[in-house]
Amino acid sequence: MKNNRRDFLKISGITGIGLIGAASCVQANQSENMSARVPEQKFNMAGYAAPKLDVVRIGIVGLGNRGSGTVRRLASIEGVEIKALCDLEPDRVKKSADLIAPLGHKPDQYSGQEDEWKKMCDRPDLDLIAIVTPWHLHTPMCVYAMEHGKHAYTELPAATTIEECWQLVETSERTKMHCIQMSAGAGAVNLNMVRQGFFGELIHGEGCYIHDLLLGYNFNKQMYHNMWRLKANIGKSGNLYPQHGLVPLMQYMDINCGDRMDYLSSISSNDFMMNETAKRLAAEDNYWNEYVNRDYRGNMNVTIIRTVKGRTIVMQHDVTSPRPRGGNLLSGTKAIYQSAPPRYAFGHDGWVSEEEFNTLIEKYTPEASKKFREFSESAEKLQRGGHSYYRTSETDWRLIDCLRNGLPLDRNVYEAAASSAIIPLSIWSVSNRSNSIDYPDFTRGAWKTNPRGMDINLERGGGTTKLL
Ligand SMILES: NC(=O)c1ccc[n+]([C@@H]2O[C@H](COP(=O)([O-])OP(=O)(O)OC[C@H]3O[C@@H](n4cnc5c(N)ncnc54)[C@H](O)[C@@H]3O)[C@@H](O)[C@H]2O)c1
Repeated sequence: MKNNRRDFLKISGITGIGLIGAASCVQANQSENMSARVPEQKFNMAGYAAPKLDVVRIGIVGLGNRGSGTVRRLASIEGVEIKALCDLEPDRVKKSADLIAPLGHKPDQYSGQEDEWKKMCDRPDLDLIAIVTPWHLHTPMCVYAMEHGKHAYTELPAATTIEECWQLVETSERTKMHCIQMSAGAGAVNLNMVRQGFFGELIHGEGCYIHDLLLGYNFNKQMYHNMWRLKANIGKSGNLYPQHGLVPLMQYMDINCGDRMDYLSSISSNDFMMNETAKRLAAEDNYWNEYVNRDYRGNMNVTIIRTVKGRTIVMQHDVTSPRPRGGNLLSGTKAIYQSAPPRYAFGHDGWVSEEEFNTLIEKYTPEASKKFREFSESAEKLQRGGHSYYRTSETDWRLIDCLRNGLPLDRNVYEAAASSAIIPLSIWSVSNRSNSIDYPDFTRGAWKTNPRGMDINLERGGGTTKLL
């Protein structure tokens, strides 16, 4: 059965549409994606350290809700020079440039045209492009940046099809430019616990993106550029935004450096909320007419993954239901962690006391987090205040610190590709009655020997870059 399906996927670029029928273009498209070429590994980016940079010269594209914060987060790190900013809308570029002027940054401003960001990437005096645009632009922008000698630091998800995942891997290996995703990452305390055997053998993890985006975000004319995020929910039913839940689990489970995701199955509910909302809004405002009776994604998606070493992962994705934000779980042979609320247990009799919890956190906080905390506490107001989008994350800081110290990065392109691949794979599985589908091995066998990233105890050095 498994092999038959694999053969089907291989030939589906030719016969897929005939077999499936016109009923599901999405299904046919995904089948084509599954049969993407597998490029030979010419260079292994796992553990790669790019030549040391004293100053990291950055260009940032996409200055909307998130990107305006990205400008401030990166500008708040020692040794960063923000040299260029780009958005379609000139006022957004000016606003972000004004924000960081007090820190001495005088970025050149690019705006107005869809392809203006390419001019920014063409410049020889940039080291890194930060990408904070709508999802469909991430891979083209990462690839172009790397082709032009820049590291790519992209918002989630790095890619939306298997073909795009391979493009990122192949380009990063060929150009020796890093391609990593922002923000989503392991809780460093838990990662330290995993590595010190606190959980015993890991058995199972659960992660999710459960965040009610219905009215305040997706059906809100003011929120996203050209309604991109609502449109992304049309014609694709699966897990569309996996990284916040999946990347930490991948890091705990040594995915791509000791284990690897083997296959997944995915199931989605119907859409009970988005079309109803579109109809209700359209009854009062014609603007919403084009969103009525569209093929919205099922409101809840559940995807289950098995790793080669026999661990299991459950991922959930729901951006419409009226419920509090979801949490994650990590379960091993000796202990369990749950994130909402944060707590640990060693058995079925209950969770550890608050006092014991605090002792555990203190004991297992790794060196990198201690350094980051120390620098954050002594930083000026710009770094510390306001919305979380404006506060430099440990991921931002580690990226710049590693580049400035000539160290391997915590993350790599294989993580970006594997954590993005669940999107097309889950869509395929949902549209095929939850049949399982094999996970591509973006490392092409190197996962067995790849070194771990996430140097949370600064064993290779670093920890020298301050926050401003
Ligand atoms: N990691 C997190 O916690 C987190 C939080 C929020 C958003 N995000 C991610 O950030 C990204 C952006 O989300 P957002 O909420 O800021 O969206 P947004 O619509 O507010 O911003 C997107 C910006 O990109 C610009 N843009 C679009 N096309 C462009 C082009 N061709 N050239 C230059 N600029 C262009 C738009 O003008 C807009 O300012 C998404 O990938 C989203 O998933 C991540």
